[in-house]
Amino acid sequence: MKNTLITGITGQDGSYLAELLLEKGYNVYGIMRRKSVVDYGNVEHIKDKIHFIYADMTDVISLISAMRISQADEVYNLAAQSFVATSWEQPIATADIDAAGVTNMLEAIRTVKPSAHFYQASTSEMFGLVQEMPQTEKTPFYPRSPYGVAKLYGHWITKNYRESYGLYACSGILFNHESERRGKEFVTRKITDAVARIKQGIQEYMELGNMDSKRDWGHSKDYVRAMWLMLQQETPDDYVIATNETRTVREFVETAFAHVGIQVKWQGEGVDEVGINAENGQVIVKVNKKFFRPAEVDVLLGNPAKAEEKLGWTREIPFAELVTRMVDNDMSLVAEEIKIANLK
Ligand code: NAP
Ligand code: GDD
Repeated sequence: MKNTLITGITGQDGSYLAELLLEKGYNVYGIMRRKSVVDYGNVEHIKDKIHFIYADMTDVISLISAMRISQADEVYNLAAQSFVATSWEQPIATADIDAAGVTNMLEAIRTVKPSAHFYQASTSEMFGLVQEMPQTEKTPFYPRSPYGVAKLYGHWITKNYRESYGLYACSGILFNHESERRGKEFVTRKITDAVARIKQGIQEYMELGNMDSKRDWGHSKDYVRAMWLMLQQETPDDYVIATNETRTVREFVETAFAHVGIQVKWQGEGVDEVGINAENGQVIVKVNKKFFRPAEVDVLLGNPAKAEEKLGWTREIPFAELVTRMVDNDMSLVAEEIKIANLK
């Protein structure tokens, strides 16, 4: 039985990866942060099957201890301050966790078990102001946020430890991936949650920022499979994981509303744009400057050809199904919320 250590196990990807590795028979260790109220996040439903270790990416001693306890054969470093907008508000914490934190984890591996295979959660945000379309493993980087800059350090230090010390260390350059477990501050979940509330009559409209920005959106469940595949190869390497399709935020909004039978008509431009329910003329989407970023990543589009060829990875959940799953899930959660509120 192989041992695995997952940092960020309570997050979106951590939870799907933990499910996958448990299914494959791994002994799963996960690091979690101490909080005033114990919170297992997205792994609440499988918490009895996981060995939890209290640790923090900014505390190398705690990571060395996590390696000693777990004796991990595979380490998946998913922990991060992962919300781009927050990285302008907390640039130093973002760098401590997303940049220096990666070195902490690599040093813990080097100290305790250098034979362990290591996965680093790199990101399409490193492409930022994109230098070519679509983006591949060879596209030059140009990060546009403190988050992107910190992640680029994590990416290069992973490559550097592979080349300096011969560690089996891989980076997955993953494009946006979402799910029913996505945090509600990210645009996709913010939209599907609002669609469910508007449809069920407990919210009038949603407020969004840049409607024109384009993302290459896949489902987290497909993407964690790619992480595992990367660590099963003979030699470590870096791979782009993406769908090779890109859509605007506006298109995501339209698809989500269409699933609950609401057609959106758009009026105005930029900060004056609104989305209107075509049936009754009600304003259901407003643009608010507050949600624009100091510097934007206008478009992301990834080419996963290398991963498809070398890892045999394929995406199984198409865009329409991703949106449908997220909306259906939020429709049920909101219905439950209404039921409980009415009972009180
Ligand atoms: P997420 O849901 O925000 O999860 C982040 C996890 O990191 C949480 O478990 C969080 O724990 C943990 N964490 C944060 N700061 C920590 C610290 N100082 N020490 C230990 N743990 C800490 O993110 P995700 O969507 O699953 O993404 C997983 C990874 O992939 C992240 O590194 C992200 O940057 C990267 N990535 C994501 C995408 C995407 O589209 N989802 C794309 C490319 C790369 P708490 O529960 O305690 O907050
Ligand atoms: N969050 C948010 N909220 N984004 C909005 C909003 C809004 O109200 N309105 C428009 N957007 C736009 C953002 O400006 C951005 O262009 C796009 O929607 C996507 O924003 P997010 O969902 O917050 O994701 P992200 O692309 O910034 O970052 C995610 O993907 C990266 C990979 O490319 C995160 O998961 C990162 O951790 C990940 O590395």
